[in-house]
Amino acid sequence: MEVVEVLHMNGGTGDASYASNSLLQKKVILLTKPITEEAITELYTRLFPKSICIADMGCSSGPNTFLAVSELIKNVEKKRTSLGHESPEYQIHLNDLPSNDFNTIFRSLPSFQKSFSKQMGSGFGHCFFTGVPGSFYGRLFPNKSLHFVHSSYSLMWLSRVPDLEEVNKGNIYLSSTSPLSVIRAYLKQFQRDFTTFLQCRAEELVPGGVMVLTLMGRKGEDHSGKESGYALELLARALNELVSEGQIEEEQLDCFNVPQYTPSPAEVKYFVEEEGSFSITRLEATTIHWTAYDHDHVTGHHHAFKDGGYSLSNCVRAVVEPLLVRHFGEAIMDEVFHRYREILTNCMTKEKIEFINVTVSMKRRV
Ligand SMILES: C[S@@+](CC[C@H](N)C(=O)[O-])C[C@H]1O[C@@H](n2cnc3c(N)ncnc32)[C@H](O)[C@@H]1O
Repeated sequence: MEVVEVLHMNGGTGDASYASNSLLQKKVILLTKPITEEAITELYTRLFPKSICIADMGCSSGPNTFLAVSELIKNVEKKRTSLGHESPEYQIHLNDLPSNDFNTIFRSLPSFQKSFSKQMGSGFGHCFFTGVPGSFYGRLFPNKSLHFVHSSYSLMWLSRVPDLEEVNKGNIYLSSTSPLSVIRAYLKQFQRDFTTFLQCRAEELVPGGVMVLTLMGRKGEDHSGKESGYALELLARALNELVSEGQIEEEQLDCFNVPQYTPSPAEVKYFVEEEGSFSITRLEATTIHWTAYDHDHVTGHHHAFKDGGYSLSNCVRAVVEPLLVRHFGEAIMDEVFHRYREILTNCMTKEKIEFINVTVSMKRRV
């Protein structure tokens, strides 16, 4: 299955939409702000482009689409004001797969631009927005045309489900019971996709251009830990319940695997170095808890949800439902997510579970 044909976040702005269920991803963007700020400020003060060209890869549709790019613009504006420079022109490219709900983005653009310009005050340069539909595992922009590339929570999506030699029985992603050959096939697919991504962006970025990527990942080398893919393991538990009740065919579950890979910082480093076009400035793993809300001043951890299983179940649903519908059909979805919510709520009262984010900041070698 080619992901480009099937994957998309739930569109619109309704209860099931990504726009209404992307608080976790928003927290991640805010959590990684110091890294993006440092990267864009360094780029601006090194190149002082009159027109600065920024691309957000996998922008989706919803509040986060504008959040990520507006933070970048704010950083440049802060710096240029402190230096007494004129505001540059901003060229903002919003990329996602063609099936992304670009209409919702475009419709909300005028009101966003109006309030953002007001917030930025007088002297703020022109800001041009473009939607770029297409897979980021291919060329999307002309040679040496971008200054800055940003991507948050998108690059863990593979271009396709890897070809598997063995059945990943009872699982939908990598877990402690996945055969070694399955783990290897996933890693190989990630390497291929990530390398392609780096090669394409290396063509498109100007020499000295900068890229900050955040992926859902894991800390250590182990794939079976609760920090990696556990949300999908619990979704597999819900699907397995329905198999044991005869509502889903066992074979149907056995041949469903999610085209996602959660890399470790070491893997990201290795693949960036092996591709060779970029030098890494920063590489960090951050943590976000499933269970609570807001910033915990004692531990310094960020939390995503206060109402347990309900919000997280909706968040995962907004992301993976189109993939599930294509494989299992629409009719069973409410039942799947009803079970999933119960399983999540139950787990979250007993365990402290967190998502790991891997952020890498890098510069195009000159
Ligand atoms: C979980 S969303 C993250 C959206 C947004 N960046 C945020 O932080 O909220 C992942 C996005 O990546 C997009 N995506 C996945 N694979 C892609 C590809 N090959 N090319 C472009 N976009 C892709 C999906 O369509 C989806 O909108």
